[in-house]
Amino acid sequence: MLFLSLLFFSSFLATASFALGSWSRVNPFAPDTNQLPLSVVTEFPGAEETPHDDTIWGFISKDPRFSKLTKAIQFADDVHHFDDKNANVTFFATPDWALTHHGHHGHCSDLSTFDHMKEEDVAAFAISHRCHWVDVMTAAQDLHGPGLLDDKKERRKKILKLLIHAILAYECMPEALSVYSLGINATYSSKLAIPGIRGGERLRIRVEQNIFPPSTSINFYSKIVESDIQTSNGIVHIVNHPILPPVSAFQTLFLFPQYFSIATSAIQRVDLTDELDLHLHCKDKNVDDCKFGGASSLTFFAPINIAFERLPYKLRLFLFSPVGGRVLKKILQYHIVPDAIVHSDYQYNKSAHIAAKSVEALGHGNTILKRDFHLPTLLNKTVHTRIKKIEYNLPMPGPHKPSIVKTDVIVNGRHALVHDVVTSNAAVHVVDHLLDPRHSEDANADASWEDWEDWLIDWAN
Ligand SMILES: *[C@@H]1O[C@H](CO)[C@@H](O)[C@H](O)[C@H]1NC(C)=O
Ligand SMILES: *[C@@H]1O[C@H](CO)[C@@H](O)[C@H](O)[C@H]1NC(C)=O
Ligand SMILES: *[C@@H]1O[C@H](CO)[C@@H](O)[C@H](O)[C@H]1NC(C)=O
Ligand SMILES: *[C@@H]1O[C@H](CO)[C@@H](O)[C@H](O)[C@H]1NC(C)=O
Repeated sequence: MLFLSLLFFSSFLATASFALGSWSRVNPFAPDTNQLPLSVVTEFPGAEETPHDDTIWGFISKDPRFSKLTKAIQFADDVHHFDDKNANVTFFATPDWALTHHGHHGHCSDLSTFDHMKEEDVAAFAISHRCHWVDVMTAAQDLHGPGLLDDKKERRKKILKLLIHAILAYECMPEALSVYSLGINATYSSKLAIPGIRGGERLRIRVEQNIFPPSTSINFYSKIVESDIQTSNGIVHIVNHPILPPVSAFQTLFLFPQYFSIATSAIQRVDLTDELDLHLHCKDKNVDDCKFGGASSLTFFAPINIAFERLPYKLRLFLFSPVGGRVLKKILQYHIVPDAIVHSDYQYNKSAHIAAKSVEALGHGNTILKRDFHLPTLLNKTVHTRIKKIEYNLPMPGPHKPSIVKTDVIVNGRHALVHDVVTSNAAVHVVDHLLDPRHSEDANADASWEDWEDWLIDWAN
């Protein structure tokens, strides 16, 4: 867990700083923003491969680099999925060497938890407990404990299989996408859908590309080290770190205390955890009844620590004082859009379609997309969100005209620092200014909190 969070965190940081650097080097136009990250559509060296006649299963099972993955797929009885001649999917394959440092299995290893778990809750258990199939395989070694009745053993085995099945589904995408096509959007659908979460819609995968050097990373922490292996039923990309189904928005912020310690403690302080978290409670071992707690779908504009540090000192003292809780809560509620997941390239609304207005394109480059949203927050007040995708051609030679697609998510007039973080229950866009509830419709307003004493207390009453 610790190893993973460190990795997660440092790649997040690296992504942020590297994308900034590469953008300014690459961008032939004066950047109007330090927004990140950007997606790159470019040809990668060695992308042309002779296609395998084998299926994904054939390729994986014959290649000694994937002996652990092969065993996991066999254990879960998932061979037929990867061997399905009619499929056409993408699979992120983890080789054995990428699993060696992945030693924690504490969360999935308590097999007695499984005795009363319902089968439909297994995938939710996997995401609440940050299990990977390599952990589950380790746990499976304990199946044959002494004195265990056969039917109990069989049941535990079945749950372990379902866990692996769910985790493998997150490492697949339902379409066959080359690294080239992964440069167009920021998020893509995985094959994992969990009843009760996101209205049953599939969980998403975050893809990030850089040009110098060409690289593609998945969910910020896993890099593609060998791309575009064509098989007869899909494309395999080899990754250098196992891709875990993501935890909730709240738990994700917890993985980055360096960035979000103020936000997470504020959220806990004003009792908004359940609006952002999602967890499976299995009350006690004798009750055959697991229930979700928290929110199953939302969008969160997550203020990074700097956003709080920018506030006037007196205001910060006030917000975190015993009398400031009410105001702090209302401000945070203004950052939460309940029941709707708004990514730059995907929207889900629990109750209806999300109303968006296409707005006129302008500026350099070829505008692929420009849309405006007025998102209803937990307060009776909307947040204005503009999504812009612009493709720029690069002055470089190449068989495909190399170009980059830059995605911007602009929140109440300011660029999100990091857009489209994927979590189990939410789209998270990181903001470096606290959103000012007075300025929702005025995208150009420069929200300054200097005059807070004149309005904030009255507003919160
Ligand atoms: C698989 O899908 C890709 C595009 O996603 C397409 O180009 C390819 O022809 C498809 N292959 C088969 C065998 O259907
Ligand atoms: C990319 O995003 C657009 C929406 O901006 C969507 O229509 C398209 O299906 C997405 N492509 C993939 C492969 O998910
Ligand atoms: C979701 O749909 C409801 C009902 O139509 C609407 O009131 C709400 O504004 C929508 N949410 C978003 C984020 O568009
Ligand atoms: C929400 O805001 C609208 C317009 O700003 C107002 O008409 C309405 O009364 C408000 N509703 C509540 C419950 O405060």
